[in-house]
Amino acid sequence: MNTQNIDGEALGRGIAVVTGASSGLGKVYADRLAKRGYDLLLVARRKDRLHILAQDLQKQYGIQANILVADLGLATDLNRVANAIAGDERVTVLVNSAGTASFVPSVAMSLPDLDTQLNVNARAVSHLSLAVLPEFLRKNAGTIINIGSVLSFSALPVGTSYSATKAHVMLFTVDLGCGRNRLGCDRPNHGYDRRGLRRRGTRGP
Ligand SMILES: NC(=O)c1ccc[n+]([C@@H]2O[C@H](COP(=O)([O-])OP(=O)(O)OC[C@H]3O[C@@H](n4cnc5c(N)ncnc54)[C@H](OP(=O)(O)O)[C@@H]3O)[C@@H](O)[C@H]2O)c1
Repeated sequence: MNTQNIDGEALGRGIAVVTGASSGLGKVYADRLAKRGYDLLLVARRKDRLHILAQDLQKQYGIQANILVADLGLATDLNRVANAIAGDERVTVLVNSAGTASFVPSVAMSLPDLDTQLNVNARAVSHLSLAVLPEFLRKNAGTIINIGSVLSFSALPVGTSYSATKAHVMLFTVDLGCGRNRLGCDRPNHGYDRRGLRRRGTRGP
């Protein structure tokens, strides 16, 4: 096994869990973390994309990359992911990037779409953060990155429900106790990227 990545940095930084790794920001985080020597657990629904990414990153950076296919909108799948990472002392980073958006007025949104958005954007972020947090606190080390949005500060008329889920991410992440210990907790509030969510909406795999 390699002890250094292609930049000569030491490997063995533990496992970075990245949700939403099959595309967009999650895929970029996976690449950058692998480049820094982290092993990876890549989570999303599209198995083919995760598989290709894992193969590419292993080959490129000499790290170990595993995949976990899960629909984070479903309670059973979310529990499966949470159980897989809870209490695992090898996990040192969690990136919650999986997200979905229905850009329609709340009054016009179907209840299934509303539930999916709440489950993926808010419930999954919370459950997975709380799955790793006890071990991070025990070690007094670890990093949680919950992807927020500028839309957590103000809502578009067609996006109040999405904004509400991102406001949850912002406030929940503030309360993870980051100021009271050495943990790194961040909630980057990304701006609009037309290649990402808006185009794909809540569409499935
Ligand atoms: N794009 C923007 O303009 C923008 C702006 C601000 C904030 N953000 C936030 O940034 C994060 C990433 O967005 P992106 O732009 O990178 O979007 P993206 O390219 O559409 O990626 C979304 C990722 O989430 C995963 N995902 C969606 N629903 C899922 C589900 N039910 N279960 C498991 N995984 C699911 C998708 O994987 P599968 O389809 O394979 O499951 C995909 O990997 C999101 O949290 C989003 O709210 C985006």
